[in-house]
Amino acid sequence: MTLIGMPQIRERRTPTRTGRTYHLRTFGCQMNVHDSEGIAGLLEADGMVPATDADTADLVVFNTCCIRENADDKLYGSLGSLKRIKDERPELLIAVGGCLAQKDRNLVQDRAPWVDVVFGTHNLSRVVSLLDYAEEWGPITEILEESESVTVVPAKREVDHSAWVTIMIGCNNSCTFCIVPSVRGAEISRRPGDIVREVQDLAADGVVEVTLLGQNVNSYGRDLELGGHKALFADLLRRVGEVDGIERIRYTSPHPKDFKADVALAMAETEAVCEQLHMPLQSGSDRILSAMHRGYTAERFLAKLDLARQHLPGLAISTDIIVGFPGESEADFQATLDVVAVARFDSAFTFIYSPRPGTAAAEMVDQFVAPEVIQDRYQRLTELQTSIGLERNQELVGATVEVLVDGPSKTDPTKSSGRTRGNKLVHFPGEVAPGSLVNVRIDRAAPHFLIGDRL
Ligand code: 5AD
Ligand code: SF4
Repeated sequence: MTLIGMPQIRERRTPTRTGRTYHLRTFGCQMNVHDSEGIAGLLEADGMVPATDADTADLVVFNTCCIRENADDKLYGSLGSLKRIKDERPELLIAVGGCLAQKDRNLVQDRAPWVDVVFGTHNLSRVVSLLDYAEEWGPITEILEESESVTVVPAKREVDHSAWVTIMIGCNNSCTFCIVPSVRGAEISRRPGDIVREVQDLAADGVVEVTLLGQNVNSYGRDLELGGHKALFADLLRRVGEVDGIERIRYTSPHPKDFKADVALAMAETEAVCEQLHMPLQSGSDRILSAMHRGYTAERFLAKLDLARQHLPGLAISTDIIVGFPGESEADFQATLDVVAVARFDSAFTFIYSPRPGTAAAEMVDQFVAPEVIQDRYQRLTELQTSIGLERNQELVGATVEVLVDGPSKTDPTKSSGRTRGNKLVHFPGEVAPGSLVNVRIDRAAPHFLIGDRL
């Protein structure tokens, strides 16, 4: 059964799957991680509990991503292995949701007919009803064209002291490499009062850190008219900053073209807002930036970093960079290295360009860069950034930093790990309760973490 359009199945309210187990796998970005918290919340409201062993779960849910090619391969690979389990245990339910499902629609069940439920990005709140349908009537694909508003479902948080808060969904930009606008739809902002109330509830529940989520947070509120006053992102930061108990506020991601002084000022004047910024560069070549439809030049990008750093001393900046966009020449790539050298990012997520069917850049087939050239550039870029990241971290040796403790270190339980306000990972000896704020003197720096002692 395929429903493409409006939902036609009524919601059910009483728990029907008490004690049955689920295993939820999430691919992709923070938005998906947060959506998965919502899916888990809905499944648990229906009585389900997390499976201790994925192989014995009654339900397997994949929350998918389609931003890069390997995400597709990973999903269809995992579904292939699940088929064997489903052959042995036909009562196993398999659900696939999220961005790749939204993009692939009927293709998911064409390629993997043993999948019971396919849902998209606009109807994750219906996951339980769709499972009901599948158990009663058989496989179903339900993809809606768009969201009417931002649906917030009670999340089952992965971490007690830190929470994601969706402030808007969708993206109105048209970066030529990017599939997000077509799977996440147009921008819709939540009302500031609703966001602040959610943050207050989180604080009452013991949360001390929130990360505000949106594809393009600088355009937050442009679609809201509240008594003639546009609800702007800078105002939102200030209002969230007033919530008692919230010690740290982060957000992701701004768009460099829309990042302005009002936001930098609000960050500086709101104590809880961390000195951390994720500012996606994508390329340092003006020619490529223009072909990407990014709306800024390398010079303007660097000016935005200066603006942010002027307002926020000690600001840590991370970025995203794509290597091998169609038509990228050696000179274009060199321009990226030059910007990276000047920008001195604290860290960077580096990606190999992946053509996404349906995007403008994917049509530029005659300009695709050879894989071995991309590989070589990718390596040169990561080498440069690793050495800059190390130097940036070394600047903190001898300093005392505030660390929000996540818990025991993954490699050595006698140590604790946590994050600085700049979002740098710190390991230090001793066991400290997750969610505590402690002061740590930094003794040693590595490219991707710091080591110190608690004071
Ligand atoms: N190929 C490679 N990287 C991509 N990104 C988005 N689309 C693509 C693509 N088609 C990267 C961008 C973005 C990050 C989330 O993923 O750098 O900022
Ligand atoms: Fe994609 Fe560009 Fe929107 Fe970011 S701003 S989600 S890269 S289209």
